[in-house]
Amino acid sequence: MRSPALQTLVTAAEAAFTTHAADAASRRSIARAFAALETVRPASGRDAVRLPVCDLWLDKALSSAELTGDLRHLADAFLAVETELCWQPRSGATANASADFAAGHANAILIGPGGIERRSDVWLGVSLLAPGVRYPDHTHPPEETYLVLTPGDFSQDDGPWFQPGPGGSFYNPPGILHAMRAGRTPLFAFWLLLAKDN
Ligand SMILES: [Fe+2]
Repeated sequence: MRSPALQTLVTAAEAAFTTHAADAASRRSIARAFAALETVRPASGRDAVRLPVCDLWLDKALSSAELTGDLRHLADAFLAVETELCWQPRSGATANASADFAAGHANAILIGPGGIERRSDVWLGVSLLAPGVRYPDHTHPPEETYLVLTPGDFSQDDGPWFQPGPGGSFYNPPGILHAMRAGRTPLFAFWLLLAKDN
């Protein structure tokens, strides 16, 4: 059984990801991911960890008046399980990251490896960036759909920065190079990764 709070988050995420999807590829990926999530896997029982950047910026990132309707519902559902999360800095290469990247960001996986619910077929997680922080260029084999809840810049395939804005969504094909950076306000985004064998 998934906890009621985590199931509320999954339901809110499915609604918001589906509503804000911007293209056919992300719609297909989202549908497959949430179909897989209808099968519940055991809770990981992992200890929660909160990082200082969360104390400084999480509330500010999610208190924007621009978050209304399904996005507000998603943010509130996220905050209801946030104390269960194991927030972590990104490990691995830091190509083009800003000097303040290490202390200025945190990632957490709700469902997936290291998540509240441990599984490898679907990863639902979030990133928080403090103002001015530039996340490293990175790639990963699973395809990915972002759902952004704040202002912030994103880049794909070394292309120009673009601004999805609150409620903005975009799709990363498997293996594409991508990055993000916060402007004068914190950046917060959900990401949904779908492993190839789904
Ligand atoms: Fe990514």
